[in-house]
Amino acid sequence: MKVLVVGGGGREHALVWKLTQSKKVRKIFCAPGNAGIGKMAECVNIKADKVEELLNFARFEGIDLTVVGPEAPLTLGIVDLFEKEGKRVFGVSKAAAQLEGSKVFAKELMRRYNIPSAEYKVFFSPIEAEKYVRMKGAPIIIKADGLAAGKGVFVCTTVEEAVEALDIIMRKRAFGAAGDRVVIEECLIGEEASFMAFSDGETVVPMASSQDHKRVFDNDKGPNTGGMGAYSPAPVVTPEMEERIMREVMLPTVRGMKQERMPYKGVLYAGIMMTESGPKVLEFNVRFGDPEAQPILMRLDSDILDIMLAVSDGTLKPEMVRWKNDASVCIVAAAKGYPGSYEKGFPITGLEEAAAMENTFVFHAGTADRKDAVVTNGGRVLGVTAIGQDVAEAISRAYAAITKIHFDGMHYRKDIGARALKR
Ligand code: AMP
Ligand code: GLY
Repeated sequence: MKVLVVGGGGREHALVWKLTQSKKVRKIFCAPGNAGIGKMAECVNIKADKVEELLNFARFEGIDLTVVGPEAPLTLGIVDLFEKEGKRVFGVSKAAAQLEGSKVFAKELMRRYNIPSAEYKVFFSPIEAEKYVRMKGAPIIIKADGLAAGKGVFVCTTVEEAVEALDIIMRKRAFGAAGDRVVIEECLIGEEASFMAFSDGETVVPMASSQDHKRVFDNDKGPNTGGMGAYSPAPVVTPEMEERIMREVMLPTVRGMKQERMPYKGVLYAGIMMTESGPKVLEFNVRFGDPEAQPILMRLDSDILDIMLAVSDGTLKPEMVRWKNDASVCIVAAAKGYPGSYEKGFPITGLEEAAAMENTFVFHAGTADRKDAVVTNGGRVLGVTAIGQDVAEAISRAYAAITKIHFDGMHYRKDIGARALKR
């Protein structure tokens, strides 16, 4: 089969890496890809959100399966477009992508199907929203309705911060139309985990649990990022908790989407807060997490192509998804300034030394090939990922590998996985 992977970050490198292990895959293209992906697939210079161009390419090359990594093309309807042409694609439809594309949509669905989540109210007007914030008091959570590259959520510890967040979203319109509506939520307390599942619209099969590290600095200090590292499994998700999340969140969500005539076929990602009264949904994503995909795909023991075809054909079975017993850890090496503004183009050294280390893989996120070197080309640059018998072994391997790597301004968290060790 000829496969096209859409995207060019660490998640897509992990998807390409996993797809290369499938016996049925003959050739992989990746649009736009990155320097690491270019070593195992043919990179195509089309951006992930140019869905029409991607379709033209897939037609021209006779692509058998297109795998969509990021949310943007999904919310633009890439799956509907490809399927209309009879082209097979792994990802959710435009309608189903609203689960990530609109927080109001997600909250209303959860309310209709009794899926546990924070109490909330929706506002169109900054004046009404401000009144509500003053009435409720802090802490309080303010969220822009639409996609905002992970920057649209404000965890406010004071009323002043909340008023400021409303100003940024609704008056300054920092996220454009994504801020036409806001969701104001109660603040949930607990430990977070990422829970993903494959769904073919009917059958829902959980993936191994994982935990992201959203803040940029150690001990969860500093601003939120796309994710500075992840590990799997997450001990906070005990077998009982997994059963509960499946029963209370994943299954009713997929059933609800079916009932609303938006069958959910793809990856369902729930960001969960483990509160004292049980698991509650913080957000849904309609795709693999990045960086959660890197450690999780390293632990996946099955052929991912079989799973993807079954998801798209509606023939998914639980036994198709098998996991290695090992633990896995991914540490993100980021550019100076990230998650704020950063420069690109710094040469990266030590990649080969790191790659030579046992049970370790260096996934590229923001990298590009220049004449004689691989250079930085994004905020999150690399995801150094290792597998081990337990989290402790995976952590020490990943850190041993990352110390071989260098680029100007490189920074990474030193405490990835520490919470799992404490348990
Ligand atoms: P989201 O993009 O909706 O997952 O929000 C980003 C981050 O904000 C989450 O990972 C949480 O750390 C935090 N967050 C979102 N909603 C809430 C909430 N209701 N209570 C506490 N923290 C929240
Ligand atoms: N790492 C969180 C996300 O992919 O949205």
